[in-house]
Amino acid sequence: MFQFSSLLALVLVAQLVAAAPCDIYASGGTPCVAAHSTTRALFSAYSGSLYQVQRASDSGTINIAPLSAGGVANAAAQDSFCAGTTCVITTIFDQTGRSNHLTQAPAGGAAGGPDNLAAADGAPVTLNGQKAYGVFISPGTGYRNDKTNGIATGDAAEGLYAVFDGTHFNGGCCFDYGNAETSADDTGNGHMEAIYFGTARGSAGAGSGPWVLADLENGLYTSASSTGTTASNPTITERFVTAVVKGEPGNQWAIRGGNSQSGSLSTFYSGVRPSNGYNPMSKEGAIILGIGGDNSDASQGTFYEGVMTSGYPADATENSVQANIVAAGYAVTSLTSGPALTVGSAVSFRVTTPGFTTRFIAHTGTQVNTQVVTSSNTTAVKQSASWNVVAGLGNSGCVSFESRDTPGSFIRHSGFELFVNANDGSQLFHEDATYCPQAGKNGQGNSIRSWSYPTHYFRHFNAILYAASNGGPSDFDATASYINDISFVVGASFA
Ligand SMILES: *[C@@H]1O[C@H](CO)[C@@H](O)[C@H](O)[C@H]1NC(C)=O
Repeated sequence: MFQFSSLLALVLVAQLVAAAPCDIYASGGTPCVAAHSTTRALFSAYSGSLYQVQRASDSGTINIAPLSAGGVANAAAQDSFCAGTTCVITTIFDQTGRSNHLTQAPAGGAAGGPDNLAAADGAPVTLNGQKAYGVFISPGTGYRNDKTNGIATGDAAEGLYAVFDGTHFNGGCCFDYGNAETSADDTGNGHMEAIYFGTARGSAGAGSGPWVLADLENGLYTSASSTGTTASNPTITERFVTAVVKGEPGNQWAIRGGNSQSGSLSTFYSGVRPSNGYNPMSKEGAIILGIGGDNSDASQGTFYEGVMTSGYPADATENSVQANIVAAGYAVTSLTSGPALTVGSAVSFRVTTPGFTTRFIAHTGTQVNTQVVTSSNTTAVKQSASWNVVAGLGNSGCVSFESRDTPGSFIRHSGFELFVNANDGSQLFHEDATYCPQAGKNGQGNSIRSWSYPTHYFRHFNAILYAASNGGPSDFDATASYINDISFVVGASFA
């Protein structure tokens, strides 16, 4: 008896000292039935695997766990395992013990599959100074579980929260996290209840977005209306966003949100459901990340952590979870590694693949290629192989490369081939022209990683430049010679 009560007291003290999000939801009577994060444990006692990565070199896998129970992911273990090769996230484990793990999403009604897996290192952050990685979802990337345990179905109550990157979004359908169809097909209004983040809209918030909306199937909603705007649902400008959606029987649901780095949650909407097929709900209980319920996969965003609960969480419970998220200390960290490519400098890129080391990245018209260039070539040739390093057009933590002979034109990927194109000012161009140089994968120079598709790197293949993924579907993605072909020595510009 004495031992039991001592243990109980210890457990209670531990929860008071360091309650994590799922401890808080349990205390509120709305326990987590799925808990996903690549950055940290969401129970104070959780020390199991957070996620699994697979490396391309030998297809080996490693499970990444917190550094200590309740702690931040052991990112150093990933870095060491993935050194000299490329890694993708294969599994995001469910921390609740219900095995509601997220893995590669299969084909669905809206898009073939399986979907792509996220680069393991596409979304580095720190939590109270400790490095961790989020899940960077490029278009075509998605995770899913269609055979879940304990997730709300029908009109049953549930709550969801997720932490996203508020600066990574687009207008494609649909960067979601939450409850979806078990068939990966659109089975009608009210068959989903997921958090959406981006600028796609049914009804929407104020301004031009991005917004936290709810994907309820056949519509993104911020109110009971399928169109129009809700002034209390703001355009998000924070780097880290806490997004909340919840629903319960009796025709009640809500959207809430806030800044994951400070402050409290605000209620963006709380009220009745849309009228045509959403009351009662017909939730099916699958879980999606980065895609729509029918596997629509045109969206992008970054996920750090999220849960699904049983029961409709009280606002006060969610407010405590928000306080815990703020205390977790999410912050940005460098997106680059290896030799610095200094903004304002002018550079050349020399191939390191044996047999081709006299070749440099150059361009002929809009096509980016490799050419043999020396100091004795014509000025025109030398300029074609020379690039201005400017602040990344799509993310100032990375860089863009402006052609020295065609000012205002930049290297961008399109169809995963590289082109020199004039900046058209669009979000898509800016992101396609943004690259985050890494330490050279073969130990030489830099490997130039796409910001928007971090599984893709500058790669020369038959003397043409691509944004290639290691073992991807195109001929230029071939694994043979990939690591050498994506490694370039950055030097002074020729002209
Ligand atoms: C640059 O000069 C070298 C040696 O003179 C020559 O082999 C090469 O073809 C020239 N490059 C171009 C792109 O003309």
